[in-house]
Amino acid sequence: MIMKTNHPWWYFIYYNQIFARKNMTYSYEINLLSKLMGGLKDLSVLEIGSGIGGHASEISKHKPESLTLVDKDPIAFHTLSRRFRSNNKIEIFKSDGFTKKPSWDAKDRVICMYSLVQQATSYSEMLNRINRLSNTATRSGVVAFEMIDFKVSKKIYPSNKGTKIYEDEKGYMEISSIYKNDYFKITFDGKLQDIRCNYEVKLVAKNLKKLLLDLNNHIFTECFVHPLEKNSRRVIVIGHK
Ligand SMILES: C[S@@+](CC[C@H](N)C(=O)[O-])C[C@H]1O[C@@H](n2cnc3c(N)ncnc32)[C@H](O)[C@@H]1O
Repeated sequence: MIMKTNHPWWYFIYYNQIFARKNMTYSYEINLLSKLMGGLKDLSVLEIGSGIGGHASEISKHKPESLTLVDKDPIAFHTLSRRFRSNNKIEIFKSDGFTKKPSWDAKDRVICMYSLVQQATSYSEMLNRINRLSNTATRSGVVAFEMIDFKVSKKIYPSNKGTKIYEDEKGYMEISSIYKNDYFKITFDGKLQDIRCNYEVKLVAKNLKKLLLDLNNHIFTECFVHPLEKNSRRVIVIGHK
């Protein structure tokens, strides 16, 4: 059966190899998120953009009361459904995670890793996406989403200079970035088992200070930002309802 995907066809095959370079990445990230969000145990948890379930499997180790996984890609949905079919605490939806009318109820913890909120067409659409995440959290719920800090990125990945993020006997992956006023682009370009892997994401660029101000004024009662790792452009924004 050939399944349509919203990504290059190789994306899910090579995903872990390219992006989860250290074995500990998913557990490290979820342990950190759990700490920043005030725990996941016995709570209802929602993850938007679950992919093939690397983070989801770590979330379930924290023993949430329930775990809801959402991904808009058919291959991701199929993979998640197979991977977690014997776990009756996990429900899976194939949907846009930022839809106005979600099919899932509000949850205590809402997690959205990678730069999905920034993959919007404008700053106001990005705020809309964050608002939708907030709307899908319960009254005292906590939302966590990952962003790329534009300023840090500019410093450590200057325009058009390639940086290898993965290399071994099977191949390599290099990223390069270009920066404009209100957006930036990250290009992934590499080769794995002789297959050319090329991929580009366009992200809304905004000064994090200005964003936090807007979020504190309009969306969350309290909001803060935490780097995912030391000297990393990847940051986690935590918002309390
Ligand atoms: C980088 S992958 C996530 C990998 C995942 N965290 C894992 O551990 O395997 C990002 C995922 O987000 C999904 N995605 C992107 N935009 C989305 C949206 N608007 N709604 C739902 N899923 C989305 C993509 O289909 C992709 O599977």
